[in-house]
Amino acid sequence: MNNAVLDLIEKLEKQRSLTLDEYEYLIENRSEEAYEVLRKKAEAVRKKIYSNEVYIRGLIEISNICKNDCYYCGIRAGNRKCERYRLTDEQIFSCCEQGYKLGFRTFVMQGGEDAWFTDERLCKIIGRIKALYPDCAVTLSLGERSKESYKKLFEAGADRYLLRHETADKEHYQKLHPQNMSFENRLECLKNLKEIGYQVGCGFMVDSPYQTNRTIAKDLKFIEEFQPDMCGIGPFVPHKESVFANHPQGTVELTCHLLSIIRLIKPNILLPSTTALGTIDPDGREKGILSGANVVMPNLSPEETRDKYELYNNKLTTGAEAALQRNALMGKTEKIGYKIVTAKGDIKK
Ligand code: 5AD
Repeated sequence: MNNAVLDLIEKLEKQRSLTLDEYEYLIENRSEEAYEVLRKKAEAVRKKIYSNEVYIRGLIEISNICKNDCYYCGIRAGNRKCERYRLTDEQIFSCCEQGYKLGFRTFVMQGGEDAWFTDERLCKIIGRIKALYPDCAVTLSLGERSKESYKKLFEAGADRYLLRHETADKEHYQKLHPQNMSFENRLECLKNLKEIGYQVGCGFMVDSPYQTNRTIAKDLKFIEEFQPDMCGIGPFVPHKESVFANHPQGTVELTCHLLSIIRLIKPNILLPSTTALGTIDPDGREKGILSGANVVMPNLSPEETRDKYELYNNKLTTGAEAALQRNALMGKTEKIGYKIVTAKGDIKK
């Protein structure tokens, strides 16, 4: 490994910040050796704050109906082959009930941008979940909405919001999305969510089409400046009915490298080892944890709808019921020296 890379890793560890050129250099010149140095530092800093605990979030995919046509996504509006569904309130509550029994203390309601889920409907659902499970956090991942809408949902009890920025480079953003979607609005939404008081998560895909070391450097700079509470990154995985069907899949190697860098940028960040990472490698989730991730988000969605929420092909959907899934996950996590805990899992300040 060249000395300049080692110097940059040390600088990042001390200052939690690099210049755009330095981030780019670090990615450009990555190597197995450099990763091992980054990974050890990331693991050490994560253990200082979160010990060897891994937080779990129960993911409930409430609808795969979406008005947007993001070029990478399997549930894009233009995909006629996607069989659409929307969970009923009762189905959502039943997922929570099951999840609570299994030790989940965060429920993540994720879905496409489905107009049926008005503020009124969502506020009712959120209010009910919070009343039934006052010791739990509710996280939303429902795309772009108005500031007023975000505010209402927050007041109804939502604690956290996930909205990946997708890329911090405007031109790159435009290559991933149709013309009617705007980079500025995406960033505005993130800013609004933070102002309202949510714990906010941003994030991006690794090896997405047209991504370069420069755009990744911008993503890292964005994370450094925006200081999100959470950051979701996972490899791009092509979907055959998407515009990017023929683009290559992302790598575990770069994803893990970036997880370690992000942990060093913000030591207390909540960093999931994503489903996409587990999808491209059977040990992906464990590799993510060993790179500094401290969150996993198993699926609590009803079995009937689970394989319809197909953002990308071959998405990890264990057919087994949630309980078995969780046990398998616990076993694998313990094998690498970490443990899954029953906790709300807020960010440690
Ligand atoms: N591969 C990997 N991740 C994807 N997402 C959407 N489509 C894909 C894909 N083909 C991610 C996006 C989105 C999140 C919900 O899933 O980053 O924000």
